[in-house]
Amino acid sequence: MKVNGFFKDVSGASRDEKRRRAAFDQADGKVVGVDPIRQTALELHPGPQKLKVTKVTDVSPTARTFRFEAVSGVLPPFQAGQYASLLFQVGEESICRPYSISSAPYMARTGEKPYFDITVRRKGPNFMPDHLFEELKEGAEVAGSLPLGHFYYESLRDSKNLVCLAGGSGITPFYSMIQEAVHGSQLPDVHITLLYGSAKSNDIIFRQELDRLEQAAPDRIRIVHILSDEPDWKGEKGFLGTEVISKYMGEDPTFFICGPQVMYRFVAKALAELKIKERRIRREVFGTPRDITRSEGYPMEAADKTFRITVRRGIHEDVIEADAKEPVAVALERAKIPFLTDCRSGECGFCRSQLISGRVFVSPDGDGRRAEDKILGWFHPCASYPLSDLTIKIPIY
Ligand SMILES: Cc1cc2nc3c(=O)[nH]c(=O)nc-3n(C[C@H](O)[C@H](O)[C@H](O)COP(=O)(O)OP(=O)(O)OC[C@H]3O[C@@H](n4cnc5c(N)ncnc54)[C@H](O)[C@@H]3O)c2cc1C
Ligand code: FES
Repeated sequence: MKVNGFFKDVSGASRDEKRRRAAFDQADGKVVGVDPIRQTALELHPGPQKLKVTKVTDVSPTARTFRFEAVSGVLPPFQAGQYASLLFQVGEESICRPYSISSAPYMARTGEKPYFDITVRRKGPNFMPDHLFEELKEGAEVAGSLPLGHFYYESLRDSKNLVCLAGGSGITPFYSMIQEAVHGSQLPDVHITLLYGSAKSNDIIFRQELDRLEQAAPDRIRIVHILSDEPDWKGEKGFLGTEVISKYMGEDPTFFICGPQVMYRFVAKALAELKIKERRIRREVFGTPRDITRSEGYPMEAADKTFRITVRRGIHEDVIEADAKEPVAVALERAKIPFLTDCRSGECGFCRSQLISGRVFVSPDGDGRRAEDKILGWFHPCASYPLSDLTIKIPIY
């Protein structure tokens, strides 16, 4: 019968209950000032924190690096390849955008206060890059959450031969990784081959810096530029396809991919042809497609329509207009309804909201919803496009 008793109390709850009751009876009623475990947890995973811009540097004709210091003097540790979600004040609105951290973790602790960099590309008129290039100057303060994302080297999982496939501003997490591999401690004994696709040579971000890093560790770092739009280029030309990847990939590599969404499809085809196993491929999320109507399965009859979204948050109810080609999150931002996002790619679930009625389109490339959420009517507004009038319920902040 003892066995019976043991199974009834397999979690040990009754023993624990006795201990807790005794501790409770002996307590003197004073409030404990600091809980060291909670304090450590807060330092490692703080909520949005105040950040100050301390340096602004142009790193190519179209890209600019912004350095942020933690106003509190405490910055959580991060892995090379992770990103930050920053909340910028645009006029009266607070708008979130994610940016990969382009500085290396080892550098974060070399200044007086811990810092990190982001590098933003502006090519043509872009809503947030325009704002940052025009308005974000030294001394400005923003709020930000970090570190976010899973796009980093993990020694137990990944090969020591990393092949990084970058396109355009997708270079930023790799710049952090390469700096860390050369001068820091997070990527020891790792060999990195960077295959970096750009249109023209003056589009290459961090060109001289990458050269310098390659020269500092030539046996571990190899940089290959592939240009699609410069016929006189002496190096590799064209796109990141099967031929160029197989030429440089070496033995049993782990691929890290970061760039515009069109590049992902192109590269996926090449890696399938090269019979690379899925466990050897790591992809960074890099936002929603530029043109959702070109996504597989998009119902073209919705493309030019405008829908009405009834937005509930607590006791508030607003009715806003939404363009079928824009994610619901963008419609909320345009309507100045407070709405926070992290990945803006449908992956992390941070913006998870309730779809009470109506239909949305979710691209197969950006569908991070859990299976039961799809059944129970939850959706990720950052990567969902209206296909009818909607009624939704969003979180209150
Ligand atoms: C994980 C991750 C890391 C990233 N890292 C980098 C990086 O290192 N460097 C980099 O350059 N980019 C990076 N990006 C992309 C970056 O987050 C932005 O998407 C990019 O800078 C373009 O911003 P955007 O506002 O022009 O367009 P989007 O973010 O694509 O926004 C879509 C559109 O929203 C509209 N819009 C939104 N709000 C409003 C409003 N209130 N009023 C009017 N119009 C509005 C604009 O028309 C805009 O074009 C990253 C993205 C992800 C997901
Ligand atoms: S912000 Fe990550 S899923 Fe929407």
